[in-house]
Amino acid sequence: MDLLMAEQKITELRSQLNQYGYEYYVLDQPSVSDAEYDRLMQELLELEEKFPELKTPDSPSVRVGGAVLDVFEKVEHRTPMLSLGNAFNEQDLKDFDRRIRQAVGEDFSYVCELKIDGLAVSLRYEDGLFIQGATRGDGTIGEDITANLKTIQSIPLRLRENVSLEVRGEAYMPKRSFEALNEKRAERGEELFANPRNAAAGSLRQLDPKIAASRKLDVFLYGIGNVGESGVVSHSEGLDYLDQLGFKTNKERRKCATIDEVIEYVNSWVEKRPHLPYEIDGIVIKVNSLEQQAELGTTAKSPRWAIAYKFPAEEVVTTLLDIELSIGRTGVVTPTAILAPVKVAGTTVQRASLHNEDLIREKDIKIGDQVVVKKAGDIIPEVVNVLADQRTGNEVDFHMPTHCPECESDLVRLEGEVALRCINPKCPAQIREGLIHFVSRNAMNIDGLGEKVISQLFAEKLISDVADIYKLTQEQLLALERMGEKSVSNLLKAIETSKGNSLEKLLFGLGIRHVGAKAAKTLAQVFGLMNKLADASKEELIAINEIGDKMADSIVAYFDQEEAKELLEELAAVGVNLEYKGTKPVSAEESDSIFAGKTVVLTGKLEQLSRNEAKEKIEALGGNVAGSVSKKTHLVIAGEDAGSKLTKAQELGIEVWDEEKLLEELNK
Ligand code: IVH
Repeated sequence: MDLLMAEQKITELRSQLNQYGYEYYVLDQPSVSDAEYDRLMQELLELEEKFPELKTPDSPSVRVGGAVLDVFEKVEHRTPMLSLGNAFNEQDLKDFDRRIRQAVGEDFSYVCELKIDGLAVSLRYEDGLFIQGATRGDGTIGEDITANLKTIQSIPLRLRENVSLEVRGEAYMPKRSFEALNEKRAERGEELFANPRNAAAGSLRQLDPKIAASRKLDVFLYGIGNVGESGVVSHSEGLDYLDQLGFKTNKERRKCATIDEVIEYVNSWVEKRPHLPYEIDGIVIKVNSLEQQAELGTTAKSPRWAIAYKFPAEEVVTTLLDIELSIGRTGVVTPTAILAPVKVAGTTVQRASLHNEDLIREKDIKIGDQVVVKKAGDIIPEVVNVLADQRTGNEVDFHMPTHCPECESDLVRLEGEVALRCINPKCPAQIREGLIHFVSRNAMNIDGLGEKVISQLFAEKLISDVADIYKLTQEQLLALERMGEKSVSNLLKAIETSKGNSLEKLLFGLGIRHVGAKAAKTLAQVFGLMNKLADASKEELIAINEIGDKMADSIVAYFDQEEAKELLEELAAVGVNLEYKGTKPVSAEESDSIFAGKTVVLTGKLEQLSRNEAKEKIEALGGNVAGSVSKKTHLVIAGEDAGSKLTKAQELGIEVWDEEKLLEELNK
């Protein structure tokens, strides 16, 4: 084939693929089979490979993902990407409506849209060609993720008219893509994404566009940066114009003349929401006329002409079948509700912690009750309340026992605590839970040694302390239920590997009271060797920024015990590493950053960074990130929906920054 013929064929293939892609991904009305589409794409890829001079940036072949990047370039938004104010109930919506009427009078209408739970993107087109796509970033500066966005099939690479404009919308991962992705990750033993939004954000933050291409993302456009000469005078016309240009917009939008119609629309989606193929977290309400939008203007953070109604967490009713007691590794006895299995926010729930007896009394919970269940933060199941009017008289009161259900020692309520504790240090339940903690992910991370295997080994008296784990033999393990040769050999390998863990994992695994994973890391960094920590005095310990009085006492008391000394000797003897292997963080003295030596607390939802990323960045600059606000806190970073930590910071008069300010300082 010569160049001319190739050019003709390529043009024809591109136009077919563009049309089929548009029908499939934008209109949701495919006219050819997937196999046919793939065949044409393959043909195009082969021709472009043979005639690289015929490649173009708007060829549908770029959707398979191009070259791997080193970093994402920064992009300054021509108009800032703002966020939205929130409404949580009807009253908030009515207040919003009143503010609008006060400003523009009675003659206006609203457009309601679904609030897609993904991440905001901005797309720039010049003469109809897609030239740049960016994340929101701090609203002023985002990251150039053009290569990743090109892999989203519903983003047109060329518009149906040769116009220049910037459009904005939400990139998201459909529920089906999310489930398939997590299934695959589970099979490969990879960490799962908590929700489609995180999965979408994680995918668009990949430097290799082939990964984004494999993640099956989608997009809805909801706004135009600058309407220019288009003749568009209202938001709804703007959306129709986007459709006309070949963009994908959400078709569930509705014009509403009054706030009562808006409320009706909002309420209708509470029921319909679970049936959508993508996640929404609310409804966005916008004043339709662009002139009135301009009149209303914006605050520093959000437009006055729009508001986001946020849905309350999904609640369902089920039967509380029983209350079980579990004993934690510190002896705390926790009542757990056993529920008739019920689906909430996407997963089946069968248990919910009831925390302590006070809470059971307060909520007047009885066994056999009909209870309302929700997932707090959409993750942890919680019993919200009891439907007392549905009682039959057969419900049974629950009483906490007076003795440990495992070792029969007295249960005590320590001063200032709501929890009941078994204070027998030899309580088998506590020892077993301690062993389970030792092998868990943030501790020694021994794959194949889950709760069940540990419980069996413990019941068979094959292990009674953590050093015993390193003495297990193939023979002993083979004798356990459901343990074949392969799993035994894998398990022994995992145990062996864990010997090499850096000190903080062991330290956390020992389960010293008040020493969490974060404190363990700090202690390991500061002391470097287990023996040095074991010899540390209380004064040396509290001199460390994050170590308080209580923790210092507990560490000293732990290492004072004869048993602890013996255990460390035993661990050393079986070859467990007792040294810190990681890098030292920049110390406050070495850093000249604004964060140097400051204790920072992160709260609320950050949009640009994960909590962990923010923490790492702050620590790399010599700062110290703490979990709770106290007088020692220097600075609080409050993301969206920040709660009690923000209130506390305000009460204590602590400096508060928003995410934008944080990013600005991190980038300095
Ligand atoms: S309008 C000035 N419409 O919600 C802000 N936003 O804080 C204009 N979102 O991350 C936003 N669906 O990306 C608008 N139909 C919709 C939306 C929507 C989702 C996101 C937006 C941003 C957040 C607003």
